[in-house]
Amino acid sequence: MTDTTTETPALFEAAPETAPDPGPVLGATGRPLPDLPEPLPPQGNHRGLIIAMCNQKGGVGKTTTTINLGAALAETGRRVLLVDFDPQGSLSVGLGINPHTLETSIYNLLLTRDHDVHDIITESVVDGLDILPANIDLSAAEVQLVSEVAREQTLKRVLAQVRREYDIVLIDCAPSLGLLTVNALTAADRVLMPLECEFFALRGLALLNDTIGKVQDRLNPDLEILGILGTMYDSRTVHSREVLERVVQAFGDKVFHTVIRRTIKFPETTVAGEPITTYATNSPGAEAYRMLAREVLQRCPGA
Ligand SMILES: Nc1ncnc2c1ncn2[C@@H]1O[C@H](COP(=O)(O)OP(=O)(O)OP(=O)(O)O)[C@@H](O)[C@H]1O
Ligand SMILES: [Mg+2]
Repeated sequence: MTDTTTETPALFEAAPETAPDPGPVLGATGRPLPDLPEPLPPQGNHRGLIIAMCNQKGGVGKTTTTINLGAALAETGRRVLLVDFDPQGSLSVGLGINPHTLETSIYNLLLTRDHDVHDIITESVVDGLDILPANIDLSAAEVQLVSEVAREQTLKRVLAQVRREYDIVLIDCAPSLGLLTVNALTAADRVLMPLECEFFALRGLALLNDTIGKVQDRLNPDLEILGILGTMYDSRTVHSREVLERVVQAFGDKVFHTVIRRTIKFPETTVAGEPITTYATNSPGAEAYRMLAREVLQRCPGA
């Protein structure tokens, strides 16, 4: 007879009642992803928060971010004005406007009082998204403004006429730290710095921070850094990840959790003349800019 009183040894360890906690989900920046709730609908008070997209390095995604963040914010029901402040006119091109055929542009508003800003603002293909276009004439403004009184406040004066008709105004800066960019930083409440995830990207940031500091000291004490956005991120390369890690080490919470991956879809949207949110509405690139819009709204309560 077998002794039934002795316990049979357990062949397997008892399954835990709950699965082990896998820990927080880490984003591309190596930090736990925060909860980003659906943005609240706009409050209809049209505060006209002005954000300048700024980095003196060329081709880092300033224009792409202005267009697509603008379109993603407009999707939330906000009224958004995009200001092309680059003589290259890339923002205008990216929204289907041919800068060469423009009879009037932001240039006319900066240098004369003969034009009404409303006559120069154009509607884009996206509901709630308007654009103040620019073309090569703007390069002359940089020279002509030098002899003007309060030359750094010229854009601020132009936008004061119209900002209260919008929830958010985004300024697409040129790749320089010249007088046009100083005008943008003087007009702005916040500055967003797109940063290409490549090795030398960090080098230019010290100079940019220096310029922002000078503008804060002398022209616009209320200017704040909204955040740093990693762009052209390639998750297959260790390199992209290392650059992001270093940026987070240096700038901490200022770095957005959202990271924009490198994809051919963005150059395609320029040819199409529309934002990625309408051109490829379910693409990861469109989703990334929607997440960025949420982060921006979380950092700017009331906007
Ligand atoms: N995430 C991305 N993946 C791939 N290509 C991109 C991405 N973002 C932007 N691009 C492309 O890279 C080029 C430069 O981007 P963009 O014009 O936005 O940069 P920029 O900083 O405004 O340049 P500039 O300093 O000349 O004004 C464009 O051809 C754009 O379509
Ligand atoms: Mg640009």
